[in-house]
Amino acid sequence: MQASDTRRARKPVAEKHEQTSSAIPMFEERLPIVSPEGLPDGKFLRDVRKILHSRQLTNATFVRKFEEAAAEYLNVPHCVAVSSCTAGLILALRALNLQGEVILPSFTFHASAHSVLWNGLKPVFADCDPETFCIDPHAVRAQLSSDTAAILVVHLFGNPASMVELQTIASDLNIPLICDAAHAFGSSISSNQVGTFGTAEVFSFSPTKLLVAGEGGMVATRDADLARILRAARNYGDSGNYDPELAGLNARMSEFHAALALRGLDGLDARIERRNQIRLHYEWRLNAIPGFGFQHIRPRNRSACKDFAVLVDEAAFGKSRDWLVEALEKENIQVRRYFWPPVHRQKLYRNIWDKRPLPVTESVSHNILNLPIYSTLSDETVDKICDAVLRCYDFAKKRTLSRAQRA
Ligand SMILES: Cc1ncc(COP(=O)(O)O)c(C=O)c1O
Repeated sequence: MQASDTRRARKPVAEKHEQTSSAIPMFEERLPIVSPEGLPDGKFLRDVRKILHSRQLTNATFVRKFEEAAAEYLNVPHCVAVSSCTAGLILALRALNLQGEVILPSFTFHASAHSVLWNGLKPVFADCDPETFCIDPHAVRAQLSSDTAAILVVHLFGNPASMVELQTIASDLNIPLICDAAHAFGSSISSNQVGTFGTAEVFSFSPTKLLVAGEGGMVATRDADLARILRAARNYGDSGNYDPELAGLNARMSEFHAALALRGLDGLDARIERRNQIRLHYEWRLNAIPGFGFQHIRPRNRSACKDFAVLVDEAAFGKSRDWLVEALEKENIQVRRYFWPPVHRQKLYRNIWDKRPLPVTESVSHNILNLPIYSTLSDETVDKICDAVLRCYDFAKKRTLSRAQRA
């Protein structure tokens, strides 16, 4: 490589530094975006000893207790514990014995769509609502066809989807409505818990959630037949007679995972309350930044606030979402772009997507940025995160001004 080529190759790195860095990062150590919460103390170790003593390590007393406690908390007759939300979604769709198309959002985690593919069904993407970020019922109506077999909705970041409208659509057509409630254990709509809506709702208890099993999931349903099929489905399809009627999975929950989640139910409502305080604190501090927008939670709804997101409108803010991501990482704050790229733009789905435009999904996905949220974050830390965001904004504003003056 010649000397002039070397200089050309180094230039972008130098520019990057100049664009985003502040002299001293706001946090000395990297602040993580998630921190598993509701983890029990010594009581859990007593449970572990009990499990070992019982010599029943999977799908036994603790699983049953956790299912009962979850059913009581959610106020739903049937809860079937499974090994993950993904497995629960796959099995719920399988148990319904569907053929054809499933309408779902593209603005979600790809596991929602994978459950459709695993069943040999066709995902048909519908746009999301610009305020709630959840699937837009009008967009669902626009995607209905004679092949529509089911609707799969997601309570995004814990914010409940528009269930009244979506249930009307599903019941008018007599098709199942499945909810990916991975983020939404503890969310509610007009004091009805998420878990009581649709044909079935499926939760996740992986470590990024508010209720943690290590790994795990739960299908909640009011349909006794569906619950019975799911109990067999999570056990290779075997209902006990060693003669399966359905090709199930091993999607059982272990006793250890159930014991952990059962303990985690203690204090769940307080954790949700705290996360909502943090959300409001963020909104109050960041509201004045031009080009910033937030997810709208309808007045009678409660979000579990699994994530906190801001939308960054580049034109008004002066810099792109990706610039801000880089700038905050330099402040030692871990941030995320959930969910970017949207599912229909991912390799696996690009050629399955029917190419009908999804303008709101594109825009939200392109502008979204997630900041740390967990109930153990102190107000001081939230303030420091906000100070860092404001410092980035001041930097962006000065750069824009000085460029304007130079022009
Ligand atoms: C919307 C959504 N659905 C499904 C899943 C998958 O959950 P699990 O890891 O329990 O399979 C996740 C994971 O975070 C998710 O965000």
